Amino acid sequence: MVFDYYASGAEDQWTLAENRNAFSRILFRPRILIDVSKIDMTTTVLGFKISMPIMIAPTAMQKMAHPEGEYATARAASAAGTIMTLSSWATSSVEEVASTGPGIRFFQLYVYKDRHVVAQLVRRAERAGFKAIALTVDTPRLGRREADIKNRFTLPPYLTLKNFEGLDLGKMDKSNDSGLASYVAGQIDRSLSWKDVKWLQTITKLPILVKGVLTAEDARLAVQAGAAGIIVSNHGARQLDYVPATILALEEVVKAAQGRVPVFLDGGVRRGTDVFKALALGASGVFFGRPVLYSLAAEGEAGVRKVLQMLREEFELTMALSGCRSLNEITRNHVVTDWDLPHPRPLPRL
Ligand code: FNR
Repeated sequence: MVFDYYASGAEDQWTLAENRNAFSRILFRPRILIDVSKIDMTTTVLGFKISMPIMIAPTAMQKMAHPEGEYATARAASAAGTIMTLSSWATSSVEEVASTGPGIRFFQLYVYKDRHVVAQLVRRAERAGFKAIALTVDTPRLGRREADIKNRFTLPPYLTLKNFEGLDLGKMDKSNDSGLASYVAGQIDRSLSWKDVKWLQTITKLPILVKGVLTAEDARLAVQAGAAGIIVSNHGARQLDYVPATILALEEVVKAAQGRVPVFLDGGVRRGTDVFKALALGASGVFFGRPVLYSLAAEGEAGVRKVLQMLREEFELTMALSGCRSLNEITRNHVVTDWDLPHPRPLPRL
């Protein structure tokens, strides 16, 4: 049941496969005979310096993977010098995660119908030292995740959605289908709209990243609404099936943002080559989700450290073999995509 919840996508899971497959249709144009004896992967996100453009996406209920859950992820991210995004639906609270020690952390927000709950939570995140809000905008209702429906997925009774414990919203009832889908239907505000992005700015000074943008139109609206950044995301293919892979949606969003705000990507990032491709197509950095959960399940904090290290090493190698010594040397000319070709012809499959 837990593995299905972590791994699965919505409906036919077409987008789930496509999030991966689309990366394999982008090839490199590496440059040679460049001195790559020194590689600098550091970057700055919303003014915060991090060791690499690889960050941790918010994923709910990490204590189902390992008893240390979000604590382990927070410590591993901090040790790797990168950013962890804590889910609203974490099984550890903002205060608990903050107590694991220093680290740059973002807080992912789901907007509840009860705006007092939201305002209180945002204030707590701010007080606990979180540096930005990632506002998830692709979930007015939960996507149809058939594995969860079949399993009647619900939060195990020994765990709580810790951020909501004191608000009587920390538990999830069992239901005849997905307990999470019922929880969302009961609590999450379906009427959320762009004016709420503005409202959020009246209750917090934290920068807001709009998570779940897939089109140029919405990228422009996000900028107009005062977003500090955009995350191109299809929620790990768990919401609307048959949306494009995020790596295919990235370029139109980057163009529409016109450099006014940074654009990030999540979805299907599994290799250092994927990170490079996203940066070449204009992303300022990437987030990844499921591999963190799997490594957490396997080995707790050590596992998450390891997966971050693996991605880091692969990305460094990709940079070296492409002739890039720093992130700003990664350009659009370092990759070729099937939409670059005047007459579409199949690219060789990797
Ligand atoms: C998620 N994701 C997610 N997003 C969000 O905004 N709030 C959340 O609580 C969760 N929870 C969650 C749980 C699980 C099990 C998964 C797999 C995903 C989506 C997540 O932030 C991110 O968009 C995707 O996970 C990125 O895709 P990959 O890296 O998993 O392919």
